[in-house]
Amino acid sequence: MSKRYDQPIPFGWYAIEYSSQLKAGEVKPLRYFGKELVLYRSDSGEAAVLDAYCPHLGAHLGHGGIVKGESISCPFHAWEFNGGGFCTGIPYAKRLPPKVDGKQALRSYPVVEKNQMIWAWYHPQQAAPSFDVEELPEFYSDDWSAIESYDWSINSIIQETGENAADLAHFITVHSVAAMPDAEVTLEGHVRTTLMDSQVQAMDTEGNIDRSGDTTDNGRLESYSYGPGQTYQKFTRMFDIVMMGTITPIDDQSIHLRFNFSLPKSQSEEHTLYANAFRDEIVHQVGQDIPIWEHKVYLESPTLCDGDGPIAKYRKWFQQFYAFDKANAA
Ligand code: FES
Ligand SMILES: [Fe+2]
Repeated sequence: MSKRYDQPIPFGWYAIEYSSQLKAGEVKPLRYFGKELVLYRSDSGEAAVLDAYCPHLGAHLGHGGIVKGESISCPFHAWEFNGGGFCTGIPYAKRLPPKVDGKQALRSYPVVEKNQMIWAWYHPQQAAPSFDVEELPEFYSDDWSAIESYDWSINSIIQETGENAADLAHFITVHSVAAMPDAEVTLEGHVRTTLMDSQVQAMDTEGNIDRSGDTTDNGRLESYSYGPGQTYQKFTRMFDIVMMGTITPIDDQSIHLRFNFSLPKSQSEEHTLYANAFRDEIVHQVGQDIPIWEHKVYLESPTLCDGDGPIAKYRKWFQQFYAFDKANAA
């Protein structure tokens, strides 16, 4: 069967785990970027991501590997590798074999920890990071609630799911918003900003949404994309709620989507109720999008009409994250 999507995995920073879910000395197997990976936190607290298969005889470092100081020790014959992917010791050998001596033995991925998550930089040709993970103030502040997370594994690619925000007409058909939202899109380097005002379904005092569309409210959404893997949404209605979305390629045909919400602690009980109902609505909307995403095809030259919104503009912007040298992709 031919692949649904022909695009390479875009390069960028991708969230791979929550910082709180990886303690010093902990090791986890991961599968992202179409690869088997190992994530570990060294005894001094540094997170590292390496390709998982040991160059000695191929054991998976994520299944039984043990942290020793700054390195991870292979479960099969205890060769050790540091976060840079260099062999730092073979307990039973007098010297390192020339193939690994002074050379990188395993692919290592640049890692940062920001906004309570661990991020790895992926580039098919291993080019260095060309932008940063954006620090979001609410995710560092004691005035905002602990993040509440939702996640989905979806058979689609980032370019497709990201197109959702630019696709204005689907908000009416798929999400039953009352009127076509008004969106202003700005594209600058790796940052995409969408300011959207829309007539949204009204909410009663219990936080129930009027899905009939008979009663409406004004909703404002500020949405930012920082590269392909990070989004930040600020919703303002009569309450506040922020969300950091992260999208991580599992391989070139599927993604892992996470939504992380936070609310101001000072918000009144009533407004917190509204904000939580709104969060439920956002989560509900993903459920509405998924069956479309999982069964559609990608049309290189779609037939667009004047009311469709900035889809073509979005697609042009997204192209910058593809390194089109497929021959050298790794
Ligand atoms: S396979 Fe890893 S040390 Fe032998
Ligand atoms: Fe949608």
